[in-house]
Amino acid sequence: MDKFVIKGETRLKGKVRVSTAKNSILPLMAASLLADSPVRLRNVPNLVDVKTMINLLTSLGVKIRRENKDLIIDASKIDNLCAGYEIVRQMRASFFVLGPLLAKYKRAKVSLPGGCAIGPRPVDLHLKGLQALGADIKVEGGYVISETRQLMGAELCLEGAKGTSVGATANCLMAATLACGKTVIYGAACEPEIVDLANFLNKMGAKISGAGTLRIEVTGSKRLEGVEYQPIPDRIEAGTFACAAAITKGEIEIENCLPEHLTTVLVKLRECGVKVEEDKDKIRVAVSQELKPTTITTAPYPGFPTDMQAQVMALLTTAQGRSVITETIFEDRLMHAVELQRFGAKITITDNTAIIDGVAKLSGAPVMASDLRASACLVIAGLAAKGETVISRIYHLDRGYENLEEKLNSLGANIQRVRE
Ligand code: UD1
Repeated sequence: MDKFVIKGETRLKGKVRVSTAKNSILPLMAASLLADSPVRLRNVPNLVDVKTMINLLTSLGVKIRRENKDLIIDASKIDNLCAGYEIVRQMRASFFVLGPLLAKYKRAKVSLPGGCAIGPRPVDLHLKGLQALGADIKVEGGYVISETRQLMGAELCLEGAKGTSVGATANCLMAATLACGKTVIYGAACEPEIVDLANFLNKMGAKISGAGTLRIEVTGSKRLEGVEYQPIPDRIEAGTFACAAAITKGEIEIENCLPEHLTTVLVKLRECGVKVEEDKDKIRVAVSQELKPTTITTAPYPGFPTDMQAQVMALLTTAQGRSVITETIFEDRLMHAVELQRFGAKITITDNTAIIDGVAKLSGAPVMASDLRASACLVIAGLAAKGETVISRIYHLDRGYENLEEKLNSLGANIQRVRE
């Protein structure tokens, strides 16, 4: 297992380019199952999660090849409708294949994904939506076994106790594109990745309107064709670079990012005293004063993203005063706080709230990454900390960040990957 060794107290400066969004690519790869001809996804980063999705689709009989940065996915003929536990347990996004398989082939068997480090992640809303579209679903031996004579358009309400669900919206949206008649999804997730998925499906021949709002309407199509598509840039990677620059009192330009996808994050960074300038497809971040504290509550888009909560917590450990972060989406997603304490951060956790009292300086420490964004949080803390930080289990980072250490080193960081 690889480790990062970080020599801290560097100041980030320069330009960095954001990769294509992992959380767009994964559902788009699953949606390619719906196409009767090959799909070309442009600029697909080399991530472990992308490889896992390639393995999963290949296990179904999909032909996939890379051409430079592009991924060409030919799902015109497949010979297996079962997504097995061995792959699905590695990545929850594997569950995205259920909707497309059911819509196109009328049956599918997909392993339940199981728990993960950020808490329970049920799939009840995915199943509720697909059942409303006319799927017979049973859960047996750890698998969701589903079939239908033909999915039929229906009214679905996908809002759950924690609000909207990105995954359930994506799964039902994909399924509805080949359902017979009109589907209306109420309580749809509004995330940019859902809009990207709808744009991709529409280019393939689907008829979807309202994506990006709580009400999405779909008129079913007979068939969908493969297309070439450039997915959106990764808003979470962009936000991660912004926090990394801010904690080091640096000055960077983040290229290939859409500021309108980061509005709430940028508002909060400005509240903390970070100077943020927005352009059409880039942002500039600079810090020349002491950081100020703030209050953050995670919420579905356009609220503050849970996927940025850990990175911002690292930043706030050095703000002058008391900050409060409340995690409402994944209530167990505060494990990084305990690791941040190892850097000397002052954080108290009560239920799903973290109270952070800023300290003047963090000091480097050996720490352990527990999930993808928690790993990014530890890297951010390590950049600012005095002395050396060793982060173990960084395989979590490789799931969702392409060459993170190389990109940060190009900005002046000192991060070494140690292979074991
Ligand atoms: C997606 C993102 C993940 C992000 C999350 C929230 C991908 C591949 N992953 O995950 O990075 O952190 O959105 O923005 O895009 N829920 C239910 N029942 C369900 C489904 C979800 O109760 O059937 C709950 C979840 O437990 C959670 C909330 O709804 O509390 C939101 O989850 P959801 O939006 O579905 O997250 P994912 O799609 O798994």
